[in-house]
Amino acid sequence: MRVLITAGPTYEPLDPVRFLGNHSTGKMGYALAEAFAETGAEVALISGPTSLPDPASSRILTTRVQTAAEMYAAAAAAARLADVWVFAAAVADYRPAEVATQKIKKSGERLTLELVKNVDIAFELGKIKRAEQFSVGFALETEDEQAHALGKLARKNFDLIVLNSLRDAGAGFRYDTNQVTLLEADGRVTAFGLKSKTSVALDIVGVVLDRLAARHV
Ligand code: CTP
Repeated sequence: MRVLITAGPTYEPLDPVRFLGNHSTGKMGYALAEAFAETGAEVALISGPTSLPDPASSRILTTRVQTAAEMYAAAAAAARLADVWVFAAAVADYRPAEVATQKIKKSGERLTLELVKNVDIAFELGKIKRAEQFSVGFALETEDEQAHALGKLARKNFDLIVLNSLRDAGAGFRYDTNQVTLLEADGRVTAFGLKSKTSVALDIVGVVLDRLAARHV
């Protein structure tokens, strides 16, 4: 089995020394890469900038990228060959309209930045997903969690979406733990308790393998 995983944040440059980014650590995506590799899968891990070392497993090929555009190019190249896609990255939705070639100098009391939309990696790849491919998305929501997650599941052609709510203590960015609910295209809902991201990854991999096995019965 081949698995494509996006992980971590993206950094969108503003000038040679600054970027727009977010607090994603990449831990959830890396834990998923390790968990899939443990099952014998070959994993293409496309990672934004993180402080994590490349996973040691010889089954995980890590590609480092900075921007959403670079992540899309690397993910698109791996997607065709992969049986399972996991979009765990916190991709910046917008990037600066222009990247200054020199450091932007301080001037005036206000600075207005113009941003333009980035490619939605999961949405674009969702359009070319084949029937036998299985796509997993993530949703971090703060309100109307299930409704928003189900909207993303349909829009991005996911088979399963991992919902974590910022309302749950210990879930989401910067923690080593996560509390997730898995929502599936067929209406199934599976809620898990608060646990380490390593355990959450094993739960997700277990469900994905179960659903793939059920397709072949
Ligand atoms: N995603 C992606 N490329 C993007 C944005 C999001 O691949 N440019 C993926 C994420 O990796 C995640 C899913 O899409 O699996 C949902 O991400 P999220 O940021 O919650 O979705 P958005 O469509 O950006 O919605 P929101 O308006 O809530 O930001």
